[in-house]
Amino acid sequence: MNTDFHHRLAAVASEIEDVLVAIFDVATDPPVPARLLNAMRYAVLGGGKRLRPFLVVETARLLSGDSGAALRAGAAIELIHVYSLAHDDLPSMDDDELRRGKPTLHLAFDEATAILAGDTLQAMAFETLADPATGDDPTLRAELVLLLAKAAGGAGMAGGQMLDLEAEGRFGEGGELDAHAIRQLQAMKTGAILSCAVEMGAAIGRANAQQYQALLTYGRAVGAAFQIADDLLDVEASSAELGKATGKDAGRGKGTLVSLWGADKARTELTRLVDEALHALGLFGEDADVLRAAARFTAERRS
Ligand code: IPE
Ligand code: IPE
Ligand code: MG
Ligand code: MG
Ligand code: MG
Repeated sequence: MNTDFHHRLAAVASEIEDVLVAIFDVATDPPVPARLLNAMRYAVLGGGKRLRPFLVVETARLLSGDSGAALRAGAAIELIHVYSLAHDDLPSMDDDELRRGKPTLHLAFDEATAILAGDTLQAMAFETLADPATGDDPTLRAELVLLLAKAAGGAGMAGGQMLDLEAEGRFGEGGELDAHAIRQLQAMKTGAILSCAVEMGAAIGRANAQQYQALLTYGRAVGAAFQIADDLLDVEASSAELGKATGKDAGRGKGTLVSLWGADKARTELTRLVDEALHALGLFGEDADVLRAAARFTAERRS
């Protein structure tokens, strides 16, 4: 199963890469300025685990949804994710120098270009979903736009990033967050986009109410698990394994369960969340084995 999972993840990543390449190859009139296009290609292509697109594609596949729509939706969510990484790494945010094993976007180009590339990636994500190439049904396209907009916005990723910076105490008060506040912050900054990936797959596969509820529970648990794993890796993994800096969260005063509880208790919580995700998939039987493997991968990954 593990090998199967890694093959499947690689296969979907390769299909997503093709869709992303094609999106950047679309000619516009007037053309996208070359510097902006190069910056976006640098940030998006040839890197990352592509886990969010994988969740879209595999959730849609579980429900026999249209694979072309799922690939386009997967590409769109990856564009949002990469935009969030480019802005997260800016000097005014986490001030990081390494991402996906390469210099961060603002170092490879410059800060203004990194900001504009992020802005443009966000717009491209919604253009990709709204484009009729994503599917004939305009209601489905609008639903996908709505899901992604909510997940990326103030009650989702961008809002969570605000709370993440506030928790550092850089705007005054700050102070240590309790577990409830940390869960909320992480559900917003990371969980919302991961669970959106599952919800988009469910929408494409036209899940019924019971299937949708089960998948939502799964997506939220995987989302929460994902950030705890990221925070554990910051403490326990090497920069060479991760392709990004490690050992920085504690010094910055990031609000994490790892800093609040220590690594052992955080890992226990991670295991509990993975169990919750696996349990939620019960009604799908072995058809959901790939999604089960994805939940385990979230916790066990070394990069
Ligand atoms: C990193 O996400 C940022 C977080 C939300 C913790 P990933 O670990 O999925 O990064 P890539 O896409 O594989 O580079
Ligand atoms: C980032 O969380 C979440 C985003 C919305 C991008 P982190 O700041 O922990 O992600 P890394 O560790 O830099 O990838
Ligand atoms: Mg951050
Ligand atoms: Mg960061
Ligand atoms: Mg991190």
